[in-house]
Amino acid sequence: MKTALPTPPAHCTFEPEDWLRLAKCWHPVARACDIGAAPVKATLLDEQLVIYRVKGQVVVARDVCPHRGVPLTLGFHDEEGIVCPYHGLRFGEDGRCNRIPSSPDQPVPAKLNLLTFAVEERFGLIWTCLAFDAENPQPLPTMPHWDDEGFQQINCPAFEVNGFAGRQVEGFLDVAHFAWIHTDTFADANNQFVPDYSPQETEFGFIADYWSSVGNYPASSDYRAPEGFQWLRHFEMHLPFTATLTIHFPGEARLVIMNAASPVSSRVTRMFAPIARNFDLHIPIEEVHAFNLRVFEEDRLMVETQRPERLPLDLTLEAHIPADRSSIAYRRGLKKMGFGEFFLV
Ligand code: FES
Ligand SMILES: [Fe+2]
Repeated sequence: MKTALPTPPAHCTFEPEDWLRLAKCWHPVARACDIGAAPVKATLLDEQLVIYRVKGQVVVARDVCPHRGVPLTLGFHDEEGIVCPYHGLRFGEDGRCNRIPSSPDQPVPAKLNLLTFAVEERFGLIWTCLAFDAENPQPLPTMPHWDDEGFQQINCPAFEVNGFAGRQVEGFLDVAHFAWIHTDTFADANNQFVPDYSPQETEFGFIADYWSSVGNYPASSDYRAPEGFQWLRHFEMHLPFTATLTIHFPGEARLVIMNAASPVSSRVTRMFAPIARNFDLHIPIEEVHAFNLRVFEEDRLMVETQRPERLPLDLTLEAHIPADRSSIAYRRGLKKMGFGEFFLV
């Protein structure tokens, strides 16, 4: 297998050092259920990718045929791999070229293999790392309860946001906006108070336990929590762009939502949202998809219109309120990873 050189692609929208820093991390690029034998297109950090499955193995590679540069996503598949439409070169396991139709009896030069990237399948998603460093591998994010008995796994269809991943993730961590943006779905416009909470740094970001009386039943539901019930929202931030939220419903009911923001470019983000829950298992998952999408859509206008588009890591550049402790922990964490003014345009 030939591993791609970790160099920023042409027309990259990130600073080269920041691109490399991001390229060393794992990012989701597709739902596992959307990847079969046929080539699927994806873009990560301005890099055009082709994703396909051959003999059970997922391949993520640069979407450029090593012969004359035609995108493999224009091609098709047969049992043995994906076939480039221009001269029919075919690529199979590990991105290796296994057929040259115009000279079938000649050995295949190694130079004709695809430039492939590290790949992992987890939480129903395909994750890739464009600059995988075997000496110092970065861990994948974790997700509470995903594999626990009694939990159902749901994977919402991906969708795009015209904004920077950092702004979107910060919005997911923001507990003060529920009463303003999410009142048609779960929040209460009359419950705006944000009680104290304190994020704790971890090896890969931070966690925050946020207790409040803001419920999480859909606004349309007849369910109500017992009088005086305090809801716990447990956030786990895995830098740079994946957070999970575990919502503690009354009793043992738990809802876990992963907010995995995949940076297509510095201005476009592809959202993945695996969900795990141990209640309402009889409700069709399409209803969960629809409700989840409504919540995300409520955030869209804010995330797409914030200025600057990127995230100021210098804390003096924006004003903060006490409810922003998680946002501040997030910006500090990114700064500590080495990102600088790059997040500010
Ligand atoms: S460009 Fe792909 S086979 Fe020639
Ligand atoms: Fe939100």
